[in-house]
Order: sequence, then C-alpha cells, then structure tokens
Amino acid sequence: MKNLNQLIILITIPVIFFSRCSQSESLKPKVIPCESDVTLYYPLNYNQDAHTPSFAIVNEPRKSLDEIDSNTIKVSFSNIGDREVAQVTIGENIDLYGTGEVLGDLVRNGTNLKLWNTDNYAYGKDNGQRLYQSHPWVLGLREDGSSFGVIADNTWKMEIALGERITFSSEGPSFRVLVIEKDSPQEVMRELAKLTGTIALPPLWSLGFHQCRYSYYPDARVKSIADTMRLKNIPCDVIWMDIDYMQDFRIFTFDSINFPNPKETNDYLHKNGFKSVWMIDPGIKSESGYSVYDSGDSINAWVKNQKDSVFTGKVWPGDCVFPDFTQDKVCNWWGSLYKDFMSVGIDGVWNDMNEPAVFETSDWTMPNSNKHKGGKTKPNGSHLRYHNVYGMMMVEASRKGIMHANPEKRPFVLTRSNFLGGHRFAATWTGDNNSSMKHLKQSIPMSLNLSLSGQPFNGPDIGGFAGNATPELYGHWIAVGAFYPFSRAHATKGSINQEPWSFGSEIEQVSREALQRRYRLLPYFYTLFQESSKSGMPVMRPLFFHNSKDYNLRREQGNFLIGSDLLVIPKWNEGGNMPNGNWKTISINGESSENHKYHPDLKIRPGAILPLCNAIENTSEFSLDTLTLLVSLDTTLKAKGVLYTDAGDGYAYQNGDFSLVEFNAEQIGNSINISVTYKEGHPLSDKTFLNIRIIDNKKSTTSVFNINDDIVIPI
Ligand code: NOJ
Repeated sequence: MKNLNQLIILITIPVIFFSRCSQSESLKPKVIPCESDVTLYYPLNYNQDAHTPSFAIVNEPRKSLDEIDSNTIKVSFSNIGDREVAQVTIGENIDLYGTGEVLGDLVRNGTNLKLWNTDNYAYGKDNGQRLYQSHPWVLGLREDGSSFGVIADNTWKMEIALGERITFSSEGPSFRVLVIEKDSPQEVMRELAKLTGTIALPPLWSLGFHQCRYSYYPDARVKSIADTMRLKNIPCDVIWMDIDYMQDFRIFTFDSINFPNPKETNDYLHKNGFKSVWMIDPGIKSESGYSVYDSGDSINAWVKNQKDSVFTGKVWPGDCVFPDFTQDKVCNWWGSLYKDFMSVGIDGVWNDMNEPAVFETSDWTMPNSNKHKGGKTKPNGSHLRYHNVYGMMMVEASRKGIMHANPEKRPFVLTRSNFLGGHRFAATWTGDNNSSMKHLKQSIPMSLNLSLSGQPFNGPDIGGFAGNATPELYGHWIAVGAFYPFSRAHATKGSINQEPWSFGSEIEQVSREALQRRYRLLPYFYTLFQESSKSGMPVMRPLFFHNSKDYNLRREQGNFLIGSDLLVIPKWNEGGNMPNGNWKTISINGESSENHKYHPDLKIRPGAILPLCNAIENTSEFSLDTLTLLVSLDTTLKAKGVLYTDAGDGYAYQNGDFSLVEFNAEQIGNSINISVTYKEGHPLSDKTFLNIRIIDNKKSTTSVFNINDDIVIPI
C-alpha cells in the first residue's frame, strides 16, 4: 500500500455508501501486501461469510509492511448488472496459461470460459469451455520471462474472460483476488503451492500403467485382462472396476452374479502383481432397505431442494439422493462407508459423476437453488455457491475415510470433478474425450494447463473414451500416453476392445515398448512426484519452463517436458519448437525412436543425469539394486541428477526411511568422474550396482560399478 492513510480512509468509509454507487462504477479495492510477493485485493463490499472457509487457500498469506512494487497488475472491482466483477490489468504482451481443465490451446489469451463443473460428454457442450473442474487461476508470462499468478478466491458460478485484462465475473457475492508476482513461472508455481497446498506423495503403484474400460465384468473378464497383460509381457499395475460391478448401480455393493466374491477377485489380482481401483459415485439410490440410503437418511444427510425437502435426481440407479458434504457429520458418515468396502482388498477409489451429474435436467446437474445445510466447518449455502466444490468436498471425505480404513497405506483417489486446491485430495483425468487425433493432440495442452493449475497428477483416457480408436490412433496414443503423469487407458461401453493387444501385433509391440519406457523411467517419475509433493512443481511441464525468456517456447503445445530433464517429441509434432542446447536423443530400453512410426523421440537435457530401473512388468518388482544412469554432459562438461526413493507405499518415509541422492558427473581430461552424495535420508544399499551410460551423439557407452566404487570412466 503506497499510502497508509488512504487505506484507513477506504476501510472506514461505510459499505452502504458503496452499495449505492451506480452500477458498473469501478471501486478502489482494499489492498493488502503480503509476504512472498503476494498481494490481496478485497472489494469494499466483501462479505467474508460468503467465501470462508476458502476452498483453494489453505495457508493464508501473511501481511507485510512492504510496498507493492508492481506497476502493471491492478485489480478493480465493480458490479455489472447482477454480476460481481473483478478486472485485473496485466500490462501488454502477456501470455496467459492455467485456468485448469479446458479444451483449447496452451496459451489461453482471447478465451472465455465458464467455471461451472459440467459432465461434458465428448467435450460437446460450450466447445469444451466448461468441463468437469474449476480453477479460478491464471498464470501470466511477461516478455522478460517474469511471471505472475492470479487467483479469484470464489467458488460461486463464474466466468473468466482473458482479453487485454483478466476479467472474473461471478453470479455470487463479490470476492477477493490474490496476486503472486515473481521472477519466473517456477517461482509462481511454488508460491501457488504454498497457498493451496501440494499433493501427498502417491503410492508407487499409481505411477504404473492402468487398464480400464466401462466396464470389465464379470470378474472372470477382469482376471482374463490381468492374465493377458502378464502373458503378453505388457507392463501394467492396475485394473479398474467401473459401475457394472455394483448391484444395480447401488454404491458400496457388489453384483451378486457378476462379482459374487470381490475379495477373491482382488486376491487374484494381488497375487499377479496388480492393484485394483473401484468406482464410487455420489448418487445414492433412494430406496429404503438399502443400507447406505438408510444410514444416510437417519442422519439427514441429503442435499435439500428450495422447499427444504430432500432433492432427488436421476443417475445410474434411477432416483437418487446426494450427500450434503458441507455437513461435517455427513463427511464422517461417508468416510465410514469405506471401511468395509476397502476390507475386500480394494486398493484405490474412483469418484466419478461428482459435478454432480444429474440426468434429465436442463443443465445436467441439480438446481442452483438447492440447499446445503453446512456444519461446524462450512456455513449453509445454495448450490450456486457449492456446486463447483461438490466434487472436491466428496473426494476430501473419501480420502479421509480410505485413510482411516487403511491407515498403513497411502490412499489413491481419482476424481472427475474438482476445484483449485483439490489436488490435495485426488488425482484426476480429463473426463470423456473422443477417440480422435484431435483429442489426442488436445490432451497435451489440457494436461499442461491442469499441471500449471496446481494439479500435477493428471492425464486423459488413453485411446479416447467416446467412439472407437483405430490401430493407428491407439498406437500414437499409447506411445505418448506412457509419459502422462497419470497413465490410464479407458473406453466407453459399446466401443470396440481397446486393450494394448486389441489392434494387432504391431500395436501390441508398440504398447509393450511404450510402457517399458515408462517403467524403466519410474525412478525419475517418482522423484518428480516427490518433488511435486514438496514444492508444487508440475511433473509434466511446458517447454517454456526450460527458459521463460525464450519466446519460441511459449506456444509449444506438442512437445513437452517431464521434469526439467526429459523432452518428449510426439511423432505428429516433429519440427515443433525445441529448447536451446544440445538435447540428445536417448533410447530407454534398447528401442529406436528416430524412424519409428509411433514412439516419440525422447531427448535428455544437456547437463542432466536420468535414473532408470531395470525393465519390470509391475511395481511389485521395482528394485534399485541395479540403477542405470543416463549421463549427458553440458558444455561445461558437467551433469547432475537427483533420485528420490523409498518403500513406495506406507509412511515410513516420514520418519526418515528414504534416500534423496544427488549424482554429479564431470569430465576431467580423458575421464568422467561421477560422485554420489546423500542429501537426505539414508544411503542406497551397498549392493547397488550402477550402470553408467554416457550419452554421446556418436556412441553411447555403458560401464558398471558398485555404488561405493570410485567411479571413473575413461573416454
Ligand atoms: C462417466 C465417466 O466419465 C466414465 O469414465 C465412466 O466410464 C462412466 N461415467 C461410467 O461410469
């Protein structure tokens, strides 16, 4: 605040004066500079009760006495018609990103989108400009490479227009805006993570490949999918159960004919090195005698309509009631339902349809006027206020219930609907895409913008959900899909089979090789997820993260980075923009991508060391007894890499049972020396063997050492 007196005057002027001001007149906000280059902007008619507790912000920024040194970002508030509007002046030549899960280009300038979580089959409604999740968040990149982020801390129905300014316009009460200003987009992401939290470290198995369809049933089909994966040596960790496992779509039940013994099915999967994820939707069949309905009804758990009666709407089982997750007792009850459910050996949970989707309604959801009762932690409010966070509240309650049921294991929850900050509770996929080349290409900017909106653990349905994949489409999709942070193949009911072997031997081999690449890279992926759990840095990154000043990289939405060291160049995007420096092509598992029809070219950053494990078919075989390091020296003849490893599940890592290792390579004269430094945790086992592969444009050489050897490689 430049002038403290001005602030005091503004705060003390009665709110009533402003509410009488003519509509659309812009009012000066209350501005609060905070630590870490965050500034809070409050409209003068701000009503705290309409927005607290914040769903996005878990760590309130601390006020500071510093002046604000931005001369470009200015926030003003006004009301236009019945909408509350915040306009953010951002300066010129800014590229805008973020805004969560939307269809379209990576650079979001010139787009208008709606924040209203929507079951959007094949992204057909509103040209995909409103999908299943809402992220009132925009990341800006200036010409000089410096960056800013803007959060509209508002769950109410809202639109974002990205023009010369950023305009948020809400159907709810006026809301506050937070602005982060930093020297780089990475720093903005770190600050976003401080405000909104980070993901918890996921179990290692969830970074493997997932095979799904709507639906694998009966149980014998589930087993045969698992058997075929192993028979054909296609790496895979997880088989998914979609709604048809339920008894007539009643959640927390099992079909007595098709899934008579889910424990036995899970035991079978476990015995063969698989985990299982089973679906739970929010719609509960309205039927007395059904225990889930009865127990919820006994605590008055349901969302109400405008007339205070229980709201019913149709979903898969017919007439359904919907838990009111604003009530703490309802969250506790919901969480308790997972105890018996998980006890049959279920490893992960898929929360779907949680926008919530309601069939046969004009907007495919419940009315805005529906009522949420609230409880100790959340006030009562209309569905207009709580719609966008319904899915987020559901997955928070699910996650707590699952952790309570399995306290020794790390939970895995996948959600379709979510909100800014909801990455704290669940991973996500991008809903019902199409089996089309268009949606395959779109998946990259979609995943990148989700990643730039605080959700690192995301990916689309590999192969495409709606329609039928062709062999060629599936080949391209699995080849690139092996590198999404969340790598899962899925297909809709009635579509052709879309397993890796369904498209003939060529595509089967492509799938095998693609997934072998992912599995060998698991030490790197896991290290990146651990980094993300600490700092909020995305796993999948746009090219401009390599150099935010390089203008050529800003619009690149075909090539992408995994972490900072691995560049993925999809086959359809050869000739796309490249980061500067001598990025060298690598082969992960002996495959050759250069003239391959499907495999993306993979390149290592000059100066990087990438850790690989041996070829495995599922993470129960994961071991670092032999660790391969791909070393690519930069122009200073040095390279560096990091490895994080732990038990892959459970919480022993929180008590120091992990290793965070740094590898440094340096060419001195005619040899390359490699040092191993333990940064945190304990050393790697004495028995660890290192295969060091020096990546050279002409030839790559591999040498083998024990981890405690002096590592000197003659060249
Ligand atoms: C909609 C989800 O988006 C899709 O992935 C799922 O297969 C169907 N619901 C059936 O549960």
